[in-house]
Amino acid sequence: MLKPFSFTGAKKIVFGSGVFDQLTNHLAEMKVTRPMVVMDRMLAQTGFKDKAADVLGRGGHKPVLFDDVDPEPRIELADKGAGLAVKGKCDGVIGIGGGSAMDCAKAIAAIAANKGKAVDYLGLNNIPAPGLPTIMIPTTAGTGSEVTFTAVFIRKDLKKKEGMNSPYLYPDLALLDPQLTLTLPPKPTATTGLDALCHAIESYTSVNASPMSEMMSLEAIQLISENLRTCVHDGSNLAAREKMLLGSLYAGLGLANAGVTAVHSLSYPLGGMYGVAHGLANTVLLPAVMMYNIPGAMEKFAVVAEAMGEIVDDLPLREAAYMAVEAVEALIEDCDVYESLKDFGIKEKDFPRLADVAMTVARPLQNNPRKIAKEDAVEIYKGAY
Ligand SMILES: [Fe+2]
Repeated sequence: MLKPFSFTGAKKIVFGSGVFDQLTNHLAEMKVTRPMVVMDRMLAQTGFKDKAADVLGRGGHKPVLFDDVDPEPRIELADKGAGLAVKGKCDGVIGIGGGSAMDCAKAIAAIAANKGKAVDYLGLNNIPAPGLPTIMIPTTAGTGSEVTFTAVFIRKDLKKKEGMNSPYLYPDLALLDPQLTLTLPPKPTATTGLDALCHAIESYTSVNASPMSEMMSLEAIQLISENLRTCVHDGSNLAAREKMLLGSLYAGLGLANAGVTAVHSLSYPLGGMYGVAHGLANTVLLPAVMMYNIPGAMEKFAVVAEAMGEIVDDLPLREAAYMAVEAVEALIEDCDVYESLKDFGIKEKDFPRLADVAMTVARPLQNNPRKIAKEDAVEIYKGAY
């Protein structure tokens, strides 16, 4: 018997090479006349600002630009952006970039329409009413933020990351154009792509997975493991970039519906306390968390191994499941990501404190296929050291 389930995501998804050029048609359909464009600072400097201005200008739009977004954004940025959107009388918000820009854009749209403060909307279901219409345009194949109901920020005052989760954060349109990912350098291509792999594997093995989310997650695992190496080492390969973007979209849909698991809980304090980039923090923890989780979801991890190209036919189930860890470690190595927790300046004596914070990131832990206590978290950090 199936458990009852629901499935959700962005209201509309448009995918394809060159679809960015049709942005103004979508604005017209959504009746947005004065959009705010929220963009990563670095991305704006690499010519995306002009590209966006050009496309919007052709449709007669003069957008309000907010390009102050840094990786791992502070929550105050969302208030600042919302202030500008209200002052500029914006009636829609476009997020262009990685997870930081899209999360900021989603929060800005909610704050601008509801007139509150970002900190009031942290947690689950604390945004009172729908925000301004939103369009999310990813330039990395990673976060999946274009289809999720989450926006995550750093709280410098508390030295931690915190998220807003609300159905009002689901974007109205996810516009995915693989051409926009062609110029992403190898290192962020690798770490954002491996973050997407985390979303796929975690959502697939989540206790909240449904037949629909599993279908998305599993396809994502396959697409990512078949194409990430090519994207890292031959970034201009549009066919591989297209499949990676599709993989990260599917992984985002898996994550939006089944949730993530312990990798994301344990990586939160690495971002909050040590400023480690989200994708990198997750990558470093993924093999150790998988090793811990395998006894809780042996069949599923065997399927993960197979989806990643391992030949598991004649192997006992347990061995097949552990092949998934080998496949992930090989992919990480082939993408030239060699860091461990040591490289972030973390000391072993810090593990209990990290584990304390990780235990407060409760929702992903509840999804974990194996029960996890503080002592287990400390052991996992040791495994990733
Ligand atoms: Fe993530």
